[in-house]
Amino acid sequence: MAFDIARTRAAYPALTEGFTHFDGAGGTQTAAGVIDAVTDVMRTAVGNRSAAFEPGRRSLEVVAAARQAVADLLGAEPDGVVLGPSATALTYTLARTLGAGWRPGDEVVVSRLDHDANVRPWVQAAEAAGATVRWAEFDRHTGELPTGQYADLVGERTRLVAVTAGSNAIGTVPDVPAIAKIAHSVGALVCVDGVHSVPHGPTDLASLGADVLVTSAYKWSGPHLAAMVADPARWAALRPAKLVPSSDAVPDRFEYGTPSFALLAGVTAAVDHLAGLDPDAVGDRRARLRAGLAAAQAHEEALLDRLLAGLAARPAITVYGSPARRCPTVSFRVAGMSPVATQQALGEAGFCLSSGDYYAYEYFQTLGLRDSGGAVRASIYHYNTVDEVDRLLAELDAVADRTGTMAR
Ligand SMILES: Cc1ncc(COP(=O)(O)O)c(C=O)c1O
Repeated sequence: MAFDIARTRAAYPALTEGFTHFDGAGGTQTAAGVIDAVTDVMRTAVGNRSAAFEPGRRSLEVVAAARQAVADLLGAEPDGVVLGPSATALTYTLARTLGAGWRPGDEVVVSRLDHDANVRPWVQAAEAAGATVRWAEFDRHTGELPTGQYADLVGERTRLVAVTAGSNAIGTVPDVPAIAKIAHSVGALVCVDGVHSVPHGPTDLASLGADVLVTSAYKWSGPHLAAMVADPARWAALRPAKLVPSSDAVPDRFEYGTPSFALLAGVTAAVDHLAGLDPDAVGDRRARLRAGLAAAQAHEEALLDRLLAGLAARPAITVYGSPARRCPTVSFRVAGMSPVATQQALGEAGFCLSSGDYYAYEYFQTLGLRDSGGAVRASIYHYNTVDEVDRLLAELDAVADRTGTMAR
């Protein structure tokens, strides 16, 4: 089907403010259904979880619904869905839990393409255990993460391989299934950061080969909450640090404190929003999610091609990386301008883009770009339009003209 962009945009109240958002990678705008769901919970009698009284049952239902929604989104079991405040917090929980079982001589493999949230928790857990950290390198020109190196990086003592399913800096989609296969050949666990990839297409835990997959709802039209999913049997084998009286059930024992019930209702509504992106889709929610996200992906890819072609036609613009498979995310610099100056100039014209390293710390450090300000990031989401891409390119020309740099 042709992606109905007008219908899609109408689902986002914040878009009426008139900003042009190329900052989905930093957090998307919130879908109306999410706002309504959050508000509904806050307007309704809700107690802490208890089967004994109706408001307590409501919060139990809200949590169960959020687990089911995330499970549908990722192809997981609801009992395998750990909910939490952020991908970073959840990854730290897992790293501390796994790291407690590591010994000197054990090894963990992280990548320099990853967001620091899927690097530093593992590095620090390895340091605490006296384990060794091994680094997967990306190709400096293409920005790809060559799979072949994992055969050398992974060995008998590898306990964990952490890798991204989509770079939040330059969009690279590594061959995670192939990397996972290598990791599994020695019995290592594979933790996949899906925070950047999940908003941009259908995701399936099993096909990825991920033992653990992490996602954040605020990158896919939802509230600022995150989830970490695995086979419930995987969670059952792990014992996180926890309060004595808190639930020891799986997955609850990985969740700290009283959850944000209202925002969890928003997580469910965000998944329902994604499942409705293709109004003609039929079947259960997982089938509609696949159809809706595939439609959104095709729309985003067309915009990405247009953006990349436009940037390539401007000699004063340097685009970093050219990965063959990628999310619709581009990092660039305008000659003669610091990334933050470009970001500010675009910001004054109502364009919202990130600048800096966006926590893709190792990527920019490796390229030697961090100290001079990283790059500017344009990230496309399904509510972006052809016209917005064209206006961004035109504004880049205007920005460059104003500063005496010829972008064209
Ligand atoms: C690829 C990636 N991983 C992890 C994170 C961290 O997510 P959170 O803010 O939920 O901790 C981000 C946030 O930008 C990200 O883009």
